[in-house]
Amino acid sequence: MKSKRGDQPQSRSVASIAVTSCLFLAICLIVFFMTSVNQFNLQDVMKMSPSALFSRSSIPTCEPSTAAAQTPSPPPPAFRLLIGILTLPDQYRLRNLLRLVYGTQKPVPAAHIDVKFVFCNLNKEDQRTLVALEIMYYDDIIILNCTENMDQGKTYTYFSSLPQMFASSESSSSSSRPYDYVIKADDDIYIRLEQLVEAIVPLPREDFYYGFTIPCPEMNPFNHYMSGMGYVLSWDLVEWIQSSDIAKNHTEGPEDKVVGDWLQAGGRGKNRYNAKPAMYDYPTNIVKNLCERELSQNTISVHRLKNQEKWIRTLRFFNATQKLKPSKLYHIPESFGDYVGASCCIRREGKNTVVSSLLLDLTIVPASYRREHLCNLPHPWTYLLIGSEMGNGPAPFSDIGKSARDLLTKDYNFDHKLNLTLLSGTGLGLVTTAVQKDQLFVGDVNTQYKSGNTTVDVKVDSSSNVSTTIAVNEVVQGTRAALSFKLPDHKSSKLDVKYLHPHAAVTANIGLTNTPQLELSTAIGTKQLSLGAEVGFDTKSGSLTKYNAGIGYTTDDLSASLILADKGETLKASYIHIVNPFIGTAVAAEMTHKLTTYENTFSIGSSQPLDPFTLLKTRFTHNGKVAMLYQREWRPKSLVTFSAEYDTKEVGATPKYGLALALKP
Ligand SMILES: *[C@@H]1O[C@H](CO)[C@@H](O)[C@H](O)[C@H]1NC(C)=O
Ligand SMILES: *[C@@H]1O[C@H](CO)[C@@H](O)[C@H](O)[C@H]1NC(C)=O
Ligand SMILES: *[C@@H]1O[C@H](CO)[C@@H](O)[C@H](O)[C@H]1NC(C)=O
Ligand SMILES: *[C@@H]1O[C@H](CO)[C@@H](O)[C@H](O)[C@H]1NC(C)=O
Ligand SMILES: *[C@@H]1O[C@H](CO)[C@@H](O)[C@H](O)[C@H]1NC(C)=O
Ligand SMILES: *[C@@H]1O[C@H](CO)[C@@H](O)[C@H](O)[C@H]1NC(C)=O
Repeated sequence: MKSKRGDQPQSRSVASIAVTSCLFLAICLIVFFMTSVNQFNLQDVMKMSPSALFSRSSIPTCEPSTAAAQTPSPPPPAFRLLIGILTLPDQYRLRNLLRLVYGTQKPVPAAHIDVKFVFCNLNKEDQRTLVALEIMYYDDIIILNCTENMDQGKTYTYFSSLPQMFASSESSSSSSRPYDYVIKADDDIYIRLEQLVEAIVPLPREDFYYGFTIPCPEMNPFNHYMSGMGYVLSWDLVEWIQSSDIAKNHTEGPEDKVVGDWLQAGGRGKNRYNAKPAMYDYPTNIVKNLCERELSQNTISVHRLKNQEKWIRTLRFFNATQKLKPSKLYHIPESFGDYVGASCCIRREGKNTVVSSLLLDLTIVPASYRREHLCNLPHPWTYLLIGSEMGNGPAPFSDIGKSARDLLTKDYNFDHKLNLTLLSGTGLGLVTTAVQKDQLFVGDVNTQYKSGNTTVDVKVDSSSNVSTTIAVNEVVQGTRAALSFKLPDHKSSKLDVKYLHPHAAVTANIGLTNTPQLELSTAIGTKQLSLGAEVGFDTKSGSLTKYNAGIGYTTDDLSASLILADKGETLKASYIHIVNPFIGTAVAAEMTHKLTTYENTFSIGSSQPLDPFTLLKTRFTHNGKVAMLYQREWRPKSLVTFSAEYDTKEVGATPKYGLALALKP
């Protein structure tokens, strides 16, 4: 869109996009190192540690239905179901989450449900203690006699071990079989028990095979097999697997396909049912991946919850915490605001650090999970993440880099200047400005009238030009519209619309003529991190008059920005750091680089309040000019500003002075 109109800018804009992304990375890195290192590492390490396990020890056990079944004696459950979640011994944290997920679901009286974690033999010393403690407290772990594997027979061992495991204790007492159904489930699936039970209750109890048919678009359960995310087998099939040579002879291969093969070869599983569309994968790329679906009301299970962020979104969607009782003992806030993040994925190759991908993730997740990695890459990758909360929305594009620019340029003025501002309580204001330029006085009169959400500004300049701006706030929530026009020059009339949203700031202004100039700017992101672009379009010549892009990062004590301006010809980087937030001391630097001429400029400056009424600023620029500014509020709202500049490169040059007076009685 940026480069379609003019052909000259086309090649440049490709370059500018490349440069923008590189620079974005650079900012990412800088900002990451400056702000996130400590908290990020620490938090992550803390999250990973199994100590989380101990802090949860007061949570009730995950078999609510056992208790429910034993208390009075309502009708006996329609069936008994074992959910075996195949996982690994070291997944303490995940087991903890899963226990909460299943333990807090509404009890389902129609069925007796046991949730157990299934893994192969332990192989580490610490597991002997930690897993044993888990078993003592929760008693929900099955350790199979196998070596940990995924597609080399773990599922076979699981099913074929069950009849023996549950044989002695249970079968003699109650019915002849301990369970009616057995589920093999992954540890990244969320099963909604009530919905599952509801779906199975009317179905057969024998020769039963139920799940998500593979491949993704397949709807006929007899064509292939059920996905390993979670499938249901009736107990007779479990017993058959234990005794059948067909299964024993063929244990290796994708575990879900292998199970399908057994049933096919043995002519079993005549009662097959497809759970689609109530089972599906968590949506990440719905267009390409047909197993995925948007989270929806009638869901039995959601699969591929590969990280905490996805779990949280899913649990939030299904209102998992709705039943939390109010109490004086705790207060859980409604919301921490939402989060929008950007992440850089970097990889270490020997001594080199390779930046491999860059991602702006606009998913909105609770802020407390902002440091979950978004890169989702395998082990040797390191994740960096910069994110920010959505307190308020991003600043408009024009504000990116503004604080540094203000420190370096605002109020420096080497013309003699008188700025008189009169503001009365009724909202009618008057500002006069007189600037002496080459002995000629230019004076402006500026009045302002405010009523409700409408502000009218009228400015009369020394050539008797009248410019008027009518601004209306909150026409629609978050918008501001302003109409401005000049008399006698009506060609300069403009309509200005601003829209401020929690994740975006859009401004548009259009000249009100037959061949209007159009300017559009957008910033997305948050109060902290915003990414923006600005385009100007001349409808008369059909060409782009300007396009700029930039990124800004702002925290309480620093603000950094990178802007690609002048149709991709100039790169501006700026940085401001509040050195002492109590006093207000700040330093700032701004650098520009012309990509065409390789010309560089820079300025650095400082701002230092001497006392609550006095401000001292200094500035040094690449061309050897030194400037200082002294501003004093000599009575409330009345400022006198003295500024001076000296060119150190020019021999014998006289310093330039400026004096400005602002009165706001
Ligand atoms: C586990 O399996 C191995 C061989 O597969 C066998 O030698 C061993 O006795 C089994 N252990 C138990 C406790 O059943
Ligand atoms: C299983 O394998 C054994 C030995 O390899 C063979 O004797 C038997 O016929 C096989 N059974 C089936 C059902 O393929
Ligand atoms: C969660 O709660 C909200 C508000 O009560 C409701 O609109 C929504 O349908 C619920 N979601 C589900 C999946 O039940
Ligand atoms: C005059 O002073 C007011 C208040 O300090 C300021 O907003 C305005 O920009 C100044 N005008 C000029 C022309 O410097
Ligand atoms: C003026 O703005 C306020 C919020 O700032 C809004 O509640 C009110 O409806 C607006 N009034 C008009 C006339 O638009
Ligand atoms: C006043 O308007 C005239 C005509 O549009 C223009 O040429 C002139 O520059 C304007 N004066 C100022 C001070 O803006």
